[in-house]
Amino acid sequence: MFKLHLVHFLLCIHFANGAPEGYLPIISCLEESNIPQDYPNTSNFSQDSLDYNLRLNFTPIAIAVPSTVPQVQAAVNCAAKLGIKVNPKSGGHSYAGHSVGGEDGHLVVDLKYFRETKVDSATNVATIGPGARLGNIALDLYAQGERAMAHGICPGVGIGGHVLHGGQGYSSHTYGLLLDFLVSAEVVLANGSVATASNTSNPDLFWALRGAGMSFGIVTSMEFRTIPAPPENILFYYPYLWNQTQAHAGWDAWQAYCGGETTPIIPPAMNVRWVIVDGDDGLLLFLLEGAFHGSIEDFDLSIAPLIDVLDEIGGFQGNVTGVVGWLDALLYANSNGLYSNWDNNQTLETPLNYTAHATFFAKSLMTRNLSPAGVDAWINRLYATGPTSPTGWYFIVAAQGGPTSYVPTVPADSTSYAHRHSIYEWQLVAQTNSPPFNDAGITWLNPFVSDIEAAESNLTLGMYYNYADPTLSKEEAHERYWLQHYGRLAEIKKSVDPDLVFLNPQTVGN
Ligand SMILES: Cc1cc2nc3c(=O)[nH]c(=O)nc-3n(C[C@H](O)[C@H](O)[C@H](O)COP(=O)(O)OP(=O)(O)OC[C@H]3O[C@@H](n4cnc5c(N)ncnc54)[C@H](O)[C@@H]3O)c2cc1C
Ligand SMILES: *[C@@H]1O[C@H](CO)[C@@H](O)[C@H](O)[C@H]1NC(C)=O
Ligand SMILES: *[C@@H]1O[C@H](CO)[C@@H](O)[C@H](O)[C@H]1NC(C)=O
Ligand SMILES: *[C@@H]1O[C@H](CO)[C@@H](O)[C@H](O)[C@H]1NC(C)=O
Ligand SMILES: *[C@@H]1O[C@H](CO)[C@@H](O)[C@H](O)[C@H]1NC(C)=O
Ligand SMILES: *[C@@H]1O[C@H](CO)[C@@H](O)[C@H](O)[C@H]1NC(C)=O
Ligand SMILES: *[C@@H]1O[C@H](CO)[C@@H](O)[C@H](O)[C@H]1NC(C)=O
Ligand SMILES: *[C@@H]1O[C@H](CO)[C@@H](O)[C@H](O)[C@H]1NC(C)=O
Ligand SMILES: *[C@@H]1O[C@H](CO)[C@@H](O)[C@H](O)[C@H]1NC(C)=O
Ligand SMILES: *[C@@H]1O[C@H](CO)[C@@H](O)[C@H](O)[C@H]1NC(C)=O
Repeated sequence: MFKLHLVHFLLCIHFANGAPEGYLPIISCLEESNIPQDYPNTSNFSQDSLDYNLRLNFTPIAIAVPSTVPQVQAAVNCAAKLGIKVNPKSGGHSYAGHSVGGEDGHLVVDLKYFRETKVDSATNVATIGPGARLGNIALDLYAQGERAMAHGICPGVGIGGHVLHGGQGYSSHTYGLLLDFLVSAEVVLANGSVATASNTSNPDLFWALRGAGMSFGIVTSMEFRTIPAPPENILFYYPYLWNQTQAHAGWDAWQAYCGGETTPIIPPAMNVRWVIVDGDDGLLLFLLEGAFHGSIEDFDLSIAPLIDVLDEIGGFQGNVTGVVGWLDALLYANSNGLYSNWDNNQTLETPLNYTAHATFFAKSLMTRNLSPAGVDAWINRLYATGPTSPTGWYFIVAAQGGPTSYVPTVPADSTSYAHRHSIYEWQLVAQTNSPPFNDAGITWLNPFVSDIEAAESNLTLGMYYNYADPTLSKEEAHERYWLQHYGRLAEIKKSVDPDLVFLNPQTVGN
């Protein structure tokens, strides 16, 4: 059993420094409009202005905490009138502190009270509030007719930010991104009006919301199609402790399997990724893990083309596989003790006052198979600097796309999410246990991207907004997050939010 403490949480409650000098105009406006707010002199304010990522620290001018759509509209009107920038906050898990502004002085609209999940038993369409968290949603969908969607893994992630910029998890190769389940959204726009966005109502806005939602308004309610919860779920963990030569061979085998060069290749039911962490004596631990939605017999046949090659490479540490129900699959089989340390034994149920944090810097990459030179560059840098890194680290590379994935079956231009052609989603994380973060972690991490890109003929690779990197300039962020879709996004931004009411350092149109 491997005990990997990959994500560090700490409960963090800060108490405020004292009462404000006087009423700021925005606070008066919120009061006059009867919008509940966190006052800067309360612990609510300190708590609600903390981002998930404690490396960053921004101070909003005010935090509105509405519980009705008219209150959201009024909050937007107050800010727009006063020239204050607005940021919606759903689960608050932005890697870049964007839901608390990404810089000081913004109005945060905290949507924590918009958190219901209701399934229509006739249509199986679920209506979900943006402030609902993934664990609660999974429980509620399952309780209402054993329904499900594909989405990310940590139960505390809010659906608002997650779905509007992608949303990938253990089951995405089989069933798609969470945004592929979105059918319509109710949005408060910059001029304070409420719009419905769907295929048939404001289709341009609907296109923009599915990939770049934070730039276009405050989503207050969403409708999703759902699927029956997958009845068969195999969770698996195959750890390998490898030296550089072995890792290189392992990466080649993985690319062949996921990228369509091996026969048979990865089938649709297989969801697989690497988690890479430091080992001892210059070795690194490559943990192949995932979920298979089918029978154990089919799983064994389907994983064999990859495992057979990896086993020949050596370094195998003993696998764990388990047949689990859907909810246990979402928890990494927490309840039967298969593998329970990912999230410090979090339950799917997350309370309203949920406060988890980590202190980190992350980079993402969206790639197809790397060329031989690219694999060299990646593995060389990993072994040259991984064992002597200035901070803790973990890397995750998930095969969400590729020839048999659901993701590229959705036409590439039908949503503003720009990465359907890529196979792998990379997440490279440098972290410390608590603040202050050691900035040497940033200079340590950046060359992983530049080395790989240099080896790939200086290709500019895509990056994933849900793993936002606040060190990117706005121009670089626009290009890497939205690639070929940025031009159309900028046009739509001009028409629905010409004054840039919804703004953070990387929003469309900034
Ligand atoms: C522990 C952890 C695990 C994660 N696991 C995964 C994973 O498995 N797969 C994956 O794909 N991602 C994962 N992520 C990334 C996650 O998808 C993003 O951080 C996501 O944006 C978080 O959504 P949120 O609502 O919690 O965040 P917030 O910080 O509230 O919002 C993020 C962004 O979306 C905007 N936004 C929020 N709500 C709305 C709204 N209602 N209308 C318009 N814009 C809005 C915010 O202004 C901000 O720009 C993880 C993140 C963390 C911290
Ligand atoms: C502030 O926190 C308290 C305790 O958690 C809660 O009852 C109250 O509703 C919060 N206020 C707002 C505006 O969210
Ligand atoms: C915080 O400030 C508000 C507005 O000035 C005031 O009404 C309230 O009593 C203060 N609360 C605390 C805990 O000091
Ligand atoms: C929108 O319409 C397109 C084209 O008809 C269709 O392929 C797609 O499934 C629809 N999407 C939603 C969310 O209804
Ligand atoms: C890596 O491990 C393999 C298998 O144990 C071994 O044959 C090889 O010599 C090692 N290579 C290096 C560079 O240590
Ligand atoms: C290890 O994997 C093999 C092949 O998939 C499987 O047959 C075996 O049961 C697994 N071992 C454990 C302990 O799960
Ligand atoms: C998680 O739960 C398992 C089994 O219930 C237990 O063995 C383990 O120590 C727990 N881990 C943490 C980090 O609490
Ligand atoms: C959250 O609320 C629960 C009860 O609703 C309470 O037991 C717990 O102490 C609260 N946690 C924090 C961090 O305030
Ligand atoms: C990449 O760009 C660098 C610097 O501009 C240049 O020296 C190098 O030759 C380029 N590499 C390739 C493979 O094009
Ligand atoms: C608000 O903006 C939307 C999008 O640009 C527009 O369709 C609508 O007419 C505007 N409403 C008002 C009241 O100006």
